[in-house]
Amino acid sequence: MRTPVIAPSILSSDFARLRDEVDEVIRAGCDWIHIDVMDGHFVPNLTLGPPIVKALRRHVQATFDVHLMVESPERWIPAFVDAGADILTVHYEATPHVHRALQMIRESGKRAGLALNPGTSPDGLSYLLADVDLVLVMTVNPGFGGQSLVPSTLAKVAEVRRMLDDAGRQDVHVEVDGGIHAGTIRQARDAGADVFVAGSAVFDEPDRALAIESLRAALRE
Ligand code: DX5
Ligand code: ZN
Repeated sequence: MRTPVIAPSILSSDFARLRDEVDEVIRAGCDWIHIDVMDGHFVPNLTLGPPIVKALRRHVQATFDVHLMVESPERWIPAFVDAGADILTVHYEATPHVHRALQMIRESGKRAGLALNPGTSPDGLSYLLADVDLVLVMTVNPGFGGQSLVPSTLAKVAEVRRMLDDAGRQDVHVEVDGGIHAGTIRQARDAGADVFVAGSAVFDEPDRALAIESLRAALRE
């Protein structure tokens, strides 16, 4: 069994207190910080860019898991590498040059993730199995926090895990993002995920340590 990684998404945090919010979930025992970057084109929402990531990086040592929900992400990879991202995930749907984008990330010495929207087949992954360090199976349609998990995505988690295992890529993380809370996390784990993004399930709770512990408890049940 892989050690589960809990990655709170700062999308649901209080942006006016961003550094304190990040410090708090780190003290509360999370593993990675998930940073949602949205460009208003690939998804109907706008969030933050490299300057915010860079500003946080000066104060925070934790792994920054940067989820690029932007069109043509290859244009932005150098800026996020420079800002201090550790993992950069690009969407399969966001560029005709997804292989090139993954290569750019790895050539920068960072870990490369490939994200799949709920309506995207995992077939394309079969040509990218050697080029990823993480596969992010979106369990909601990207753009907003607080949505319900799309049930059909769990079968895709299992399919992705199987493809990676068959290719001898047991080292690759399978991440789920969207609608993950104490009532759904175990199903995602049973399907084969090992990285769990949680936005509202962590930041909408007043006690973040308790929120993260309930996620871990649900995984142990
Ligand atoms: C959605 C983002 C998620 C979002 C998850 O586009 O990629 O990271 O913050 O939020 P919850 O956990 O509330 O569904
Ligand atoms: Zn995300």
